Amino acid sequence: MSIQNIMVIGAGQMGAGIAQVCAQSGFQVKLNDLSQDALDKGIKGIEKRLARAVEKGRMSEQDQNDTLNRLSTTTSLQDSNDCDLVIEAVVENMDVKTKVFSELDQHAPKHAILASNTSSLPITEIAAVTERADQVIGMHFMNPVPVMKLVEIIRGLQTSDETYKAIEDMTKQLDKNPVEVNDFPGFVSNRVLMPMINEAIYTVYEGVAEPEAVDEVMKLGMNHPMGPLTLADFIGLDTCLYIMEVLHDGFGDSKYRPCPLLRQYVKAGWLGKKSGRGFYKYE
Ligand code: CAA
Ligand code: NAD
Repeated sequence: MSIQNIMVIGAGQMGAGIAQVCAQSGFQVKLNDLSQDALDKGIKGIEKRLARAVEKGRMSEQDQNDTLNRLSTTTSLQDSNDCDLVIEAVVENMDVKTKVFSELDQHAPKHAILASNTSSLPITEIAAVTERADQVIGMHFMNPVPVMKLVEIIRGLQTSDETYKAIEDMTKQLDKNPVEVNDFPGFVSNRVLMPMINEAIYTVYEGVAEPEAVDEVMKLGMNHPMGPLTLADFIGLDTCLYIMEVLHDGFGDSKYRPCPLLRQYVKAGWLGKKSGRGFYKYE
């Protein structure tokens, strides 16, 4: 199938990044969120990143204008009625996601593929609230989307080969590398990454070392571009906690228990970079 028109739902750090790379690659993109304020914030971030790309000589002014002209905003899911693909990037919560998917199923054309950027939630369960489970798939971009090359593509139990192929091709059109995985909690990326982050939080909780020391050990000792606590702040501590809870519930194994310090920070509203405070403070 040919994909031309895309809706991206959620204009947060992931949704805005996904909308940007899709528009940069020539797709018409409608960005959706609950409020115009959230949409304006998402578009402002995109404008800033494109302006920087022009300034750095990585993009022409013509491409910058064309990209922005391919982007529009809406607060209504009804506007998905001419889309070939919808990519959902709302909060990591099953109730919110299933509500979005069942509404989308009413409005998006019958041929449209519905993809979720979920970090860990079962694609099969999200697909089950629609009448087109064979056209539902996980399309897991990495943060920051404009920079990271991976898209983890998750096949739900009923995802068809045709849907998989269309999303694999489209990912390549975005100049990203697709990797196919099956539908188990946390997939591959967060089943491996998030327990490391959670364990790093335990080392702070148990007084083994200060956050700066933990990050320095992992950066200088393991050559990670960011220490695990800086990365946790960057991802969002609420998202990290949701993912640990999905792993814990999904496998029923105590090795995935979220660190109490992570819970405490999220309860306090310390969500990391996006809220101005997490393991570190941000201006
Ligand atoms: N958004 C868009 N572009 C960004 C960016 C952001 N938030 N941060 C950095 N960049 C770009 C910039 O364009 C910059 O290039 P310019 O200087 O030309 O503008 C380029 O990246 C390099 O940035 P910096 O020199 O400022 O910093 P850096 O070299 O340390 O790179 C980084 C920044 C790419 C984020 C790097 O630190 C990194 O790779 N960190 C680890 C990221 C990671 O692990 N991501 C996966 C998170 S897990 C996930 O996404 C899955 C999940 O479900 C939770
Ligand atoms: P975020 O908090 O930055 O953004 C979420 C956005 O969704 C907000 O703008 C919010 O207003 C909007 N939203 C909430 N409910 C909505 C609804 N019903 N309809 C439309 N918009 C709605 O979160 P994020 O970090 O961008 O994460 C979004 C998704 O991407 C989550 O599923 C997360 O697990 C996944 N993800 C996150 C990362 C990361 O590093 N943060 C990486 C990969 C995947």
